[in-house]
Amino acid sequence: MPVSDYQLIEAWKQVLTLSNLERGQSVTILTSSATHPQTLAAATIATQAMGAVVNRLDLPPVNAEKALSRDPLAYLGTTPLTGNRPAIAALKESDLVLDLMTLLFSPEQHEILASGTKILLAVEPPEILVRTVPTEGDRARVKAASARIAKAKEMTVVSAAGTDLRCPLGQFPVISEYGFVDQPGRWDHWPSGFALTFPDEGGANGRIVIDVGDILLPQKSYTTSRIELTVENGYATKIEGGIDAELLRDYMASFNDPEGYAISHIGWGLQPRCHWSTLSLYDKEQTIGMDARAFEGNFLFSLGPNNEAGGSRTTACHIDIPLRHCTVRLDGEDMVRDGKVLDGGAK
Ligand SMILES: [Fe+2]
Repeated sequence: MPVSDYQLIEAWKQVLTLSNLERGQSVTILTSSATHPQTLAAATIATQAMGAVVNRLDLPPVNAEKALSRDPLAYLGTTPLTGNRPAIAALKESDLVLDLMTLLFSPEQHEILASGTKILLAVEPPEILVRTVPTEGDRARVKAASARIAKAKEMTVVSAAGTDLRCPLGQFPVISEYGFVDQPGRWDHWPSGFALTFPDEGGANGRIVIDVGDILLPQKSYTTSRIELTVENGYATKIEGGIDAELLRDYMASFNDPEGYAISHIGWGLQPRCHWSTLSLYDKEQTIGMDARAFEGNFLFSLGPNNEAGGSRTTACHIDIPLRHCTVRLDGEDMVRDGKVLDGGAK
């Protein structure tokens, strides 16, 4: 459904209020060739209405000659900030950056965050933003899950489909994504609603079965045949199955990078306003698939880098895979049972 300008402006105001935007603070809206015009207009009006000093910084897209699709999350290479000192300076001087282009993790982004600037990514289309506008309750729920992960020494994941994965924890921090930026130096993504961490380097072992109906991103497809990953010492060493396994193997091989096969972030979805089925309603050009990443009760794991959490692995290949019907345990205690979160639900 189309969204009224009024409704989108009000959604932005809610996000900006939760992000503690104050009168007189400076906001830089980061745009590029794929920025949605209504989202840009609404963000510009909402920030001005709240008394902020508002700039727009438009940067040219990069990586087109290397990426295999138009999805902005598909190729993690250099960013428009690489070597771009004037742009970095402008963003570091801002209190808040609204990233409507998909900057992605990079040393430059870390440098900007370290200066105290907040960055909020928002690139899903307007109707998804309006449906998933974050709340204080989202934050409380994600923070509670994150606190529980932070205390754990091991995450295990099992499913009737055959997943049986063990991940030792403790080397890397826990990351909370709840859709707004209420602390200096915080990065977040609207929409989201999940808690995640990374297995200790080289420590993940077992088997992951991607069942029929699970989702691959950035492929933005529901699998039609099972894919079985053998996980040894932190890496997917075998990818077996039918046509979907073949497609995944071929895609990953194109990066020619063994680090792309590492087990990256692990965690679970906590967002009741995101849904497993939503991706089936969209053309692949219209969404980056945040519903799939955040829907309540998924086990979301990924293949690829861990530099987002301070690890040393960088790779251009990054695949997010939300699984349904998993049981996720921390030190033997069920957090998610057969795809149902056991925290009592959204407040
Ligand atoms: Fe990811």
